[in-house]
Amino acid sequence: MCGIVGYIGEQEAYPILIKGLHRLEYRGYDSAGVSMINAKHDLNIYKATGKVAALEDKCAAEDTTGNIGIAHTRWATHGEPNTVNAHPHRSQSGNLSLVHNGIIENYKTLRTKLENEGYTFCSDTDTEVLVQLIEYTQKSQQCDLFTAVQRALKHVVGAYAIAILEKENPDQLVCARKGSPLVIGVGTDARGHKEFYLGSDATPIVEYTKQVVYLKDEEIALMDRSGKLEIINLSNVHQTPEMHILSLSLDELEKGGYPHFMLKEIWEQPNALRTCIRGRIHVQAKDVLLSGITDHKEKFLNARRIIICACGTSWHSALIGKYFIEEAAQIPVEVEYASEFRYRNPVIYPDDIVIAVSQSGETADTLAAIQLGEQKGAFLYGICNVIGSSIARATQSGTYIHVGPEIGVASTKAFTGQVTTLCLIGLAIAKEKHTLSDEMYHMLIDELQTIPDKIQWTLENNQGIDQFAQMFTYCRNFLFLGRGYNYPVALEGALKLKEISYIHAEGYPAAEMKHGPIALVDEEMPCVFIAPKRGMYDKVVSNIQEIKSRKGKIISVVTEGDKIVSDMSDYTFVIPDTRDCFVPLLAVIPLQLLSYYVATAKGRNVDQPRNLAKSVTVE
Ligand code: AGP
Ligand code: GLU
Repeated sequence: MCGIVGYIGEQEAYPILIKGLHRLEYRGYDSAGVSMINAKHDLNIYKATGKVAALEDKCAAEDTTGNIGIAHTRWATHGEPNTVNAHPHRSQSGNLSLVHNGIIENYKTLRTKLENEGYTFCSDTDTEVLVQLIEYTQKSQQCDLFTAVQRALKHVVGAYAIAILEKENPDQLVCARKGSPLVIGVGTDARGHKEFYLGSDATPIVEYTKQVVYLKDEEIALMDRSGKLEIINLSNVHQTPEMHILSLSLDELEKGGYPHFMLKEIWEQPNALRTCIRGRIHVQAKDVLLSGITDHKEKFLNARRIIICACGTSWHSALIGKYFIEEAAQIPVEVEYASEFRYRNPVIYPDDIVIAVSQSGETADTLAAIQLGEQKGAFLYGICNVIGSSIARATQSGTYIHVGPEIGVASTKAFTGQVTTLCLIGLAIAKEKHTLSDEMYHMLIDELQTIPDKIQWTLENNQGIDQFAQMFTYCRNFLFLGRGYNYPVALEGALKLKEISYIHAEGYPAAEMKHGPIALVDEEMPCVFIAPKRGMYDKVVSNIQEIKSRKGKIISVVTEGDKIVSDMSDYTFVIPDTRDCFVPLLAVIPLQLLSYYVATAKGRNVDQPRNLAKSVTVE
């Protein structure tokens, strides 16, 4: 998920690799490493945790010579961020070194097979199986590295971008991709020699060459020092490299062509959720597999209650999680603001489960809430995005959301990742407790798998929001209203708008409005209703009527094809139909876009809004 850099040519590789890693720093990372082959054919590997600067310090006294090399910044998915787990990984014989972005789903099976063949492993990563599998294939089938990579990858399930060095053959660099991007830069050095650069995006390449080849899924490339570039696919069919000319600036490249990280992260959600679900659902068996739950099955079967502690957006996803877990798994769930919970001497029983939801895994209040749970003997479970973060380490079990680094301060893909993970957790507990019929369990699993495509549809079919948002820049207040599963969506829509546009916004359960907030409604007050054709649709229609008769402006999120609410609204956003419990994953998308476009129309710094920090490590 993080960054890869590579080089083969006549220049010294190390300075190019380090500069490239710095260029990729915007992606967020937890450790870094480099590998070069020197003139004596030594394959050197250096790694460090933390910033790229720490790696540079470590390398200062080392032999970093060589004109072929690979480098990596890691965003851990399997195993803590430490130097052993950092990439590059070395093969058992020491002949290969490899870097990898992505997740190998069947790494446990592959690892067991390789162990039976006498291979030993030193890291906790999924990546290490790749380097051993490629070496094993090369040795057992007596083939060259390029062929071995193609043959080995046929056995690999998951997402990867990889680059590999071979000590015995320092004139060739091999790389491959499936699901994770990889770009090859084709350049010419000052003396007219052809050279190749490699990057997980074009940012480490752009200052050397504008000519690039985007490796396609299931392609393997061989870059030869003589200037030859050969590409084959997993089926061993030769492919013709397609040359492209880069036209984007460095700044645009870092943001993947988007003007802000927030917009990039909004559009990343379909793929982010595919990664979040990947490996957790057994597609053929229609089954949820969460080791965090099954390894502690008894705790969940005997739990008196679940208490979820979180802050901000994570608190909103926790609320959706409560509704789902109670409905599917029939366990009482309480959702607490971590900052309140930690100071009010709450009743916590030893047979309670305390779940912390935190994107960063570093939020001080959430961490303190977990510590309180620990003192009272409860079982602690973490739902984090950042691997090896404080909350991940402080909990006894957990599930990572795996949506990749979130850079924008306003949380978007982490929210949908958290909701998806909580739904998976609800399904996993329901399976153990037999609280859902097989039919319902399988149907929910089927439906959850359609959500990434439905988010894509939602993004593509609400394109006019940027124009529409211009009309609201003058507004001083906004109301967001929803019922049931969509009440937390209303809260999240309001939070998103206020944190990046600085417009005051409130989220409310739609029916509560008549107990007070309706007094605020006049022709100047936009009211955003989440009104899918599901659940309490008719009741929401009545709530809209109440606002309309007081001249409030109605903006609504409706199911595709809806007539009634659309006709009553001044503006509508459309989402595809889905089960009630999954509507939040779709309904939040237009609200994220609305707040983004209102904020940019007001000229706000959406990625770093005033007074806010990405990770709140103080009380
Ligand atoms: C989200 O847009 C906010 N910036 C904020 O509410 C955030 O969700 C909150 O600080 C919790 O952070 P965490 O998930 O990293 O614990
Ligand atoms: N899954 C690999 C690991 O945890 C690669 C992570 C990445 O993409 O940085 O080491």
